[in-house]
Order: sequence, then C-alpha cells, then structure tokens
Amino acid sequence: MTMEYRRLGRAGLRVSVLSFGSWITYGNQLDESAALNLMAAARDHGVNFFDNAEVYASGKSEELMGAALKKLGWDRLTYVVTTKFFWGLPPKFGEGINEKNTLNRKYLMQAIDASLKRLQLDYVDIAYCHRPDPNTSLEETVFAMHDMVARGKATYWGTSEWSAVDIMGAWQIADKHHLHKPIVEQPEYNLFNRSKVEREYARLYSEIGLGTTIWSPLASGLLTGKYAKGVPADSRGSLKSMAWMHDSLLDPAKNAIVVKLGAIAQDLGCTTAQLAIAWCLKNPNVSTVITGASRVEQVTENMKALQVSAQLTPDIMARINAIF
Ligand SMILES: NC(=O)c1ccc[n+]([C@@H]2O[C@H](COP(=O)([O-])OP(=O)(O)OC[C@H]3O[C@@H](n4cnc5c(N)ncnc54)[C@H](OP(=O)(O)O)[C@@H]3O)[C@@H](O)[C@H]2O)c1
Repeated sequence: MTMEYRRLGRAGLRVSVLSFGSWITYGNQLDESAALNLMAAARDHGVNFFDNAEVYASGKSEELMGAALKKLGWDRLTYVVTTKFFWGLPPKFGEGINEKNTLNRKYLMQAIDASLKRLQLDYVDIAYCHRPDPNTSLEETVFAMHDMVARGKATYWGTSEWSAVDIMGAWQIADKHHLHKPIVEQPEYNLFNRSKVEREYARLYSEIGLGTTIWSPLASGLLTGKYAKGVPADSRGSLKSMAWMHDSLLDPAKNAIVVKLGAIAQDLGCTTAQLAIAWCLKNPNVSTVITGASRVEQVTENMKALQVSAQLTPDIMARINAIF
C-alpha cells in the first residue's frame, strides 16, 4: 500500500495522511518495546508523523517515544515529532516548572527544554499550544512561540482546540510583527464531532492557509463498534482513569448509529473502524488523521483506511451523512 502525503496547510512540510499518536497508550497501556513496535509498524505503512504531548502519562509518553526513536535510529529528516504545552507537569517531572494551565512565556520557555530532554531530540517539528490560555495575552504567547522556533527548538508551531477567533488573532499578531505564524490547529474530528473543522475554521483554510492534524478519529474506539455490548476488558474504556468517558462510549443512541455505520462498512468489505477513519480522510482540509492503537493489529487494520477512502463515492458519503 502506498501512503499519501499532504502539505500541512500552506506550510511546505508534507505529512502522511495517516499518522500515529501516543495519548493514553504510551506509559499507561504500553511499555517501551510495545511502543517501539507500534511506531515501527506505522512507519512500515509510510507514517512520518508521530504525535505526543508533555502531559501524556505525565512526561512518560515523551520518554518512551524518545527511547524508541533512539533505538529505531531513523534518519531525523524522515519523520516529524510533535509535542504540546499547556497543563504542565507534576513537580517531579517538571524540571523546576511550577506553572500549570498556562501559555505564559516563562512556562513555555522551560517546557520545551524539558520535552526535548525527555524525547532525546534537538528539536521538535511542531510545538502546539495544547489549549487556549485566557489569562495570558495572545501577544505574549505568540512572541514566546516565535522565539521557540527562532531558537531552533521547534520547526513550526500551532494550536490545539483554539477558537477560530483566537487562531486568527494569533496569526495577525505574528503577521504584524513579522514573527513565525501558527500554521496548524489540532482539533477533535470524527463522525460524532464535526463542527469546528467543518464550520468554525472554514475561512481559515483559505485565508491563512491553516493545516489540521485531527485527533480521535474513532472517538476513542466508539466508532469501531466494540462498545455496543459494554466495555471490553482489554480496551481504553476499561482503564480506571477513563471512567469519565463511559457516558459517551456506552451511549445507546451513539452505539445504535455505529451499528448502522457497520452495515455500510460490510457493504464495502471493510471494518467499521476503517470506514470511520476513511471518512475523515475525505475532508481535504484535514492534513493528517492522527490514529491511536494499543496493538500492532490495530495499526495494520487502520492503515488500510486509505484504500477504503477511495471507495467513498458521493452516494456512500450521503448514506453516512444520513445516519449521523
Ligand atoms: N490535541 C489534543 O487535545 C488531543 C486529544 C486526544 C488525542 N490527541 C492525539 O490524537 C491521537 C489519536 O487519538 P485517539 O487515540 O483518541 O484516537 P482514536 O482513533 O479515537 O482511538 C484510538 C484507540 O481506539 C482503539 N482502537 C484503535 N484502532 C482500533 C481498531 N481497529 N479496533 C478496535 N479498537 C481500536 C485503541 O484503544 P484500545 O485498544 O485501548 O481500546 C486505540 O488506542 C492521540 O494519540 C494523540 O496523539 C490529541
């Protein structure tokens, strides 16, 4: 199978349309060798984009990815690593960082150094502001992110779950002061959660060339159909720390819709998960779909979504739209 690569919005960087992330899995479900195996499996399918964040497993996820990358020994030019800042870390990982829930300059300047240390990298390719911070001026955050890029610690910067207004505001500040601009937003996007990507950000794609690296294409596994009869023992939903997700994962109305999606998948000869991921790929404003997996077989299954997306004719898309 040949991977497809898309430019990250107006940036020159080309990313695989299917990428791989470490939220929940690295450090909670998977140890270092399992983490390495999943990255190797993704890379074998052409994935060049690996997503992380300082807050994932309180820094452990970055440590596991860094150790795996070191062992894998890939040419640094051939892959993209990202991380994200906002929530901060407990003091034992914090390298002196006392700040939490902030995008202030002091926090950002220290957080990037601590992340690079855990990842054992000289730079990340994209540093994201993981959430908006209403208590810090946009101007302060934009100047700090510009400095991170100018100092060679990140190649690009972006946002995650910001409003269109704040993204545009940050872009305009950067434009006015000739600073590095935010090039990408990382929003949730899946069949149950479409409005930000399809409506709120609509003008930003053409006006500022925004790229998107979208998360939870399977709504944490709900869109595989495996939560229709309860929480499977070996699933994300079975983790104590994920109990807050049960309302959504076990929602009878949502699961009934997923059963209908499964019927369309059956007609196409694919799995429900593959169809849900393929549907995300059909949106041209999606630069990459960040997949997650707790085992290699899921990576293998999910990567085939690329072939399924070629089968999604306007008729099939209309059938899917009709049930959601
Ligand atoms: N910026 C943000 O705020 C933000 C937020 C969330 C995520 N993200 C990023 O986006 C990435 C993807 O998000 P996500 O992990 O929530 O994606 P997802 O695709 O919605 O869920 C992935 C999980 O679903 C299950 N799964 C995956 N493929 C499956 C298959 N074929 N059959 C059955 N189960 C399957 C696995 O969990 P189990 O096997 O354990 O059930 C897997 O870990 C994250 O790793 C992270 O990098 C970013």
